[in-house]
Amino acid sequence: MSDPIRACYEAVHYPALTHPQLHPARLLASARLWGLDPPPAARARMLDLGCGTGAQLRWVAQSLPGSRCLGVDLAETQIREARRRAAGIDNLRFACADLTGLDLGDQVFDLIIAHGVLTWVPDAVKDALFATVARHLAPGGVAMVSYNCLPGAQLREALRMLMQMEQERLGLAPGDVGAAAAMLEVLDTGMDGLDLPHADLLRQQLLRLRAKPPDLLRHDELDPVYEPLYLLEALQLARGHSLAYVADTDLLADWLACYPQSCRQAFARPDMDRFRALQYADFLANRAFRHSLFCRAEAAGAVPAAPDPARVPPLSLRSYLEPIDTGARPGAARIAFRTRAGCPVDANRAALLQSQADQGTQTREVGVKDARMQALLLRCAERCPGAAHIGGLLNEADGVGGAADTDTALCSGLLRLASKGMIELCDGPCPAPPDPD
Ligand SMILES: C[S@@+](CC[C@H](N)C(=O)[O-])C[C@H]1O[C@@H](n2cnc3c(N)ncnc32)[C@H](O)[C@@H]1O
Repeated sequence: MSDPIRACYEAVHYPALTHPQLHPARLLASARLWGLDPPPAARARMLDLGCGTGAQLRWVAQSLPGSRCLGVDLAETQIREARRRAAGIDNLRFACADLTGLDLGDQVFDLIIAHGVLTWVPDAVKDALFATVARHLAPGGVAMVSYNCLPGAQLREALRMLMQMEQERLGLAPGDVGAAAAMLEVLDTGMDGLDLPHADLLRQQLLRLRAKPPDLLRHDELDPVYEPLYLLEALQLARGHSLAYVADTDLLADWLACYPQSCRQAFARPDMDRFRALQYADFLANRAFRHSLFCRAEAAGAVPAAPDPARVPPLSLRSYLEPIDTGARPGAARIAFRTRAGCPVDANRAALLQSQADQGTQTREVGVKDARMQALLLRCAERCPGAAHIGGLLNEADGVGGAADTDTALCSGLLRLASKGMIELCDGPCPAPPDPD
């Protein structure tokens, strides 16, 4: 099965994408919040499985010169391109290999990622992917495996079937995106004025497909395999290789205490364990995408039921919030903040909301009453897009007048802002955005 998949990526390279939420500084911060103690991002050993032309790793290697990065991919021409673009970057290497026969000797890695791979490979490769993680993950390490998940990905799967039907009807070559155009034309016209319960979901999917550049559309929607998984199926695969689930990188997805009261009540049943509750949560949210963190089974005892506020102060923070009233001072009854224009909405949140098309332009607001939180956010707003160490910010915010929360309450507040995508928490300095490719 690897041959047709290899041929697709050799014919047209996967677009060079960088994913800020998958930078080690962000992933290792998540791992820490969920009880793990990996080495600092600044000197992480990182492996990227299915790395394409290596854009993500190039950014990581350049932003963390003390890290060591290895990318592996099946498609030889992609690896050749990855090596060409990485010339002169000493801490970055690439290997061309099929995951089902990968031999990395006794190398171990603190962070292993496989982004956008699991959904597009057959079962034997899915299994080989987790076997590779199990073989090469350092004892304190963490792995991030992303996948399109059910039930949210079901409509996308159905649209893909329709596109392939059009492909056959039109006699198009594999990967010719003309099938998408044919399908979108009929559905767009048909959608006009449709006022049925599923219409919004369908509209969002059509927007998402329209926004995709042709090379992305061709791979994501028309490549030979597309198999979204239920969360519990992914966990089962990992468990088969003595790997344990930690959490999603999106704080909101697995922080069940933040769900509405009705959900919390449903999850409080005595026969409901964390994993079943998360699976039900995916149904309630109609979740379509997951970025799952895994650790070695023996490290899983440290994973708490919620991100731990006590682990926030050593992290650093970049805030995308600015006060609506630029004259606001700490100690006011309430200060309203809004997200700046250009606040990045990471792919995970966009996937959660199932529409990437209009995310970048949305402004969101939050009101803050606590004087120390006000002081902290105002200071961060002055520094944006610069980042700051949270322990230092907490000290600086000491001594402001008005009602002041404890550090724990303040850190819980920061976690909530992070879960809304309004601030970023990083292990070590927050990385500057990547240079355009
Ligand atoms: C959808 S692309 C994702 C690329 C990159 N991770 C990203 O997020 O931009 C999937 C990648 O997995 C690679 N791949 C597929 N099957 C593989 C296998 N059996 N062994 C190694 N790599 C594989 C493909 O060549 C392709 O580059």
